[in-house]
Amino acid sequence: MRPMTTRIKLTCVAVVAAAYPVLVATMQAAPQAAAPQSGKPTITVGSQGPLPVHATFTKEQINDGSGLFLQNCAFCHGKDAGGGESGPDLTRSKLVASDKEGEKISEVLHGSRVGKGMPRFDLPNAQVMWLVAYVHSQQDAAMSQTGDRKGVDESDLHTGNATLGKAYFEGPGGCTRCHSATGNLAGVATRYSGLKLEEQMLYPESSKASVSVRTASGQSFKGPLEYQDEFTIGMRDGSGTYHSWPAAAITYTVSDPAQAHVVALARYTDADIHNVLAYIQTLK
Ligand code: HEC
Ligand code: HEC
Repeated sequence: MRPMTTRIKLTCVAVVAAAYPVLVATMQAAPQAAAPQSGKPTITVGSQGPLPVHATFTKEQINDGSGLFLQNCAFCHGKDAGGGESGPDLTRSKLVASDKEGEKISEVLHGSRVGKGMPRFDLPNAQVMWLVAYVHSQQDAAMSQTGDRKGVDESDLHTGNATLGKAYFEGPGGCTRCHSATGNLAGVATRYSGLKLEEQMLYPESSKASVSVRTASGQSFKGPLEYQDEFTIGMRDGSGTYHSWPAAAITYTVSDPAQAHVVALARYTDADIHNVLAYIQTLK
C-alpha cells in the first residue's frame, strides 16, 4: 500500500474539517490539482444536465481507487461502476452526483445501507477517498460520453463479437496460460449463464487459494487454504488432513490463482469484456 504523506493545511477547511477531519487531511495532501472542472467536456447524457461539481482528485488517487474498486466493488457494481447484478449503476447515482468530497459516499461505505445489500467496509479513510475519487471519475466519464456505455446491463451481454473474443482469449488476454476451451472451460456456458457467467469470468467465485507452510521445526505443507485470519492459518494437506497453526508460529505463503483475473480486469477494455464473454458463451 502506498504510504500517504500528508501535509495538512489548516486554513479554509475549518467547517468541513470538524465533520470529516481525516478525509479533509487526505484531500489537502493532494498537491497537484487535477484538471479544473471547467476544462472537462460538457456533453451530457440524457437529462442529467451539467456535470456534477465536486472536489478535484489527483490521477494517483483515481488510479489507486480503481484497483481497490476492482477488488472490492466491481463484483456488484460492475468493473466501471456502471452497475452489476446486485449493485446499482453508480455512474447514474444521484447520491454520487450530489457528493462533494466523500461525505455521502463514505456514509454508505461505513454501513448506512447494510440492510439493503450494500456491505459495510472498514477501510482507512485514505482508501475511502481513493474510492470516492474513482467513483466520481467514472461518473464524470459516463456523463460526458454518449453511446458506448460501460457496465454490465443485461442487454450488453449480447453485444460482443465471439471471433474477436477468441482472438483476445488466445492472444493478448493470456487466458490460455491457465485455460482451454476444450479443457477446464469446456461447457462453462452450460454451467453458468447471463450475468452469473460474466461474474465468473471476471472473478471466479469458486477459485480456491492455496498455502504453503513451513513450521518452526522445519516441516513443510502445501494445500488448499481452509481458514485464515490474523492469528490462525488452517489448511488441508495432500492426504486431506486438516492442520492449523498460530500464524505467528510458522512461515507461510498464500497464493490465489484467480489473482490473474484481477490483473486481467485492469487490462480489459469494455469491448474486450463483451467480446470475450461472447466467446465464452459459445463454450457449451
Ligand atoms: C455485495 C454487493 C455489493 C458490494 C461488494 C458493494 N456494493 Fe455498493 N451497493 C450494493 C447495493 C445492493 C446497493 C444499493 C443499496 C440500496 O438500495 O440502498 C449499493 C449502493 C451503493 C452506493 C449508493 C448508490 C446510491 O445511489 O444510492 C454506493 C456509493 C456504493 N454502493 C459504493 C460501493 C463501493 C465503493 C463499493 C466497494 C468498496 C461497494 N459499493 C461494494 C451492493 C454492493
Ligand atoms: C494464472 C491463471 C489464470 C489466468 C491467466 C486466467 N484465469 Fe480464469 N481462472 C483461473 C482460476 C484459478 C479459476 C478458478 C477455477 C475454478 O473455478 O475451479 C478461473 C476461472 C475462470 C472461469 C470460470 C470457470 C468455471 O468453470 O467456473 C472463467 C470463465 C475464466 N476463468 C475465464 C478467464 C479468462 C477469459 C481469462 C483471460 C482474460 C482468464 N480466465 C485468465 C485462473 C486463471
